This record gives sequence, C-alpha cells and structure tokens, in this order.
Amino acid sequence: MNLARRTMNHPALAAVYERAWRPALFYLASGRTTESDRRDAVSTLRLDGAKKVLDIACGPGNFTHHLSTALTGDGFAIGLDYSEPMLARAVADNTGPRVGYLRGDARVLPFADGTFDAVCCFGALYLIPDPIGATREMLRVLAPGGRIAITTSYRADNPFGDASRVVGGWSGLRVFDTRTFPDLFAAAGLVDIEQDVHRLLQYVSATRPE
Ligand SMILES: C[S@@+](CC[C@H](N)C(=O)[O-])C[C@H]1O[C@@H](n2cnc3c(N)ncnc32)[C@H](O)[C@@H]1O
Repeated sequence: MNLARRTMNHPALAAVYERAWRPALFYLASGRTTESDRRDAVSTLRLDGAKKVLDIACGPGNFTHHLSTALTGDGFAIGLDYSEPMLARAVADNTGPRVGYLRGDARVLPFADGTFDAVCCFGALYLIPDPIGATREMLRVLAPGGRIAITTSYRADNPFGDASRVVGGWSGLRVFDTRTFPDLFAAAGLVDIEQDVHRLLQYVSATRPE
C-alpha cells in the first residue's frame, strides 16, 4: 500500500479530515472552499426530490450528508468507501434520515446497472488503483437521465504540471491530463460534458442521455 493509501486508512486522519485536512489541502490545491464545493456539487448533480445518489469514496461522509439534505420523499444518498476509520467517522458525524454508508471497493460496485440518478466521486480517483475501471463502474450504475460529477487531480501542460506529476508519483497520487475524463464520458455516450480547472484540480460533469 503506498503512502497516500496508508494515510487515508489511518484513524488519526479520519478524525481531522473533515474539519482541518480537507479544507486546508483542497483550498491550497484549488483555491476553493469546501462550502463552495458542496454547494456546486448539489447544483451540478441537479439534486432534488426523491433522487437516488451514490457518493463514491465518501470518506467521513462530508459530502454525502450535505447531498442528502437536498433530497425529499424517498430520496437517499449512499456513501461508499473502503476505509473503516473513515466510515466510522461518517456514521458518528454525518448521519441523517436520508443517508446510508457502505464499505466497499469503488472498482466493483455492488449495485445493478442504472440504479442511481446521480453518482459522484470527489477527491479520490487519484488514490484508487485502476481509476478508469472505477469510473466505468460509476457510469454503469448511472441511470438514463442521470448526472455524474467528479473532482480529481489535473496536470498542467507546463513545468509546474511536470513537478506535480513527480510529487504525485512519489506519494502514490495519480495526476491526470485534461482529456482523460471528458474523453471517457464522451466514449460512453454521455452529453453536456463540462470541465472546469482550478489550479491543481479538475471538476468534470456530464449527463447520461434518456
Ligand atoms: C480524500 S478522501 C475523499 C473524501 C471526500 N469524497 C471528499 O471529497 O472530501 C479519499 C477517500 O477515498 C477512499 N478510497 C480510496 N480508494 C478506494 C477504493 N478503491 N474504494 C473505495 N474507497 C476508496 C479512501 O478510503 C478515502 O476515504
């Protein structure tokens, strides 16, 4: 297990992740606050009503719970993660009437095709071995008309980008170019593909046609 994956599995990180680690590191990496990321996640995924939402690599549920608050009726949000310490924090800190958590591997999702109206994966594809396979799994469980949104690393096409790839490789974090995810979504037949880059992070979203 590489340094990044070991760190994510550590109980000490789970304890400080939502309040300190994520706000500080993601602000440095993107210039964006967790609050604005949460707000944009709800609008990008077009959450409302009785939608079914899957939050892949949910960590301590810091997005899962927020996403669930945009839902009503029979709507629910499931957070999936493989880290026991992270899921223990999710259950302690981010429960609610429309939230559930599941331990599992993003590369093999235990759901039928087309189960969810919205699927997201924030801040994790660079940690997951076989991130392309994991993204294909997200696409598999996305229903017609559904929305997908990811946030992951971005390698600028300049010396700074080269440096980020070296540091990423050393720590076990993968750094993606600009084409990987838009091309993957397009090849899967998705439409409305949008990509925003903020410093070292890219935000990509799309719709599966009806
Ligand atoms: C940086 S946290 C992201 C938490 C949250 N989504 C956010 O944006 O703040 C990354 C999470 O990815 C999870 N993870 C890494 N590989 C995974 C895999 N193969 N399957 C499920 N979860 C995984 C880790 O356990 C960790 O909780």
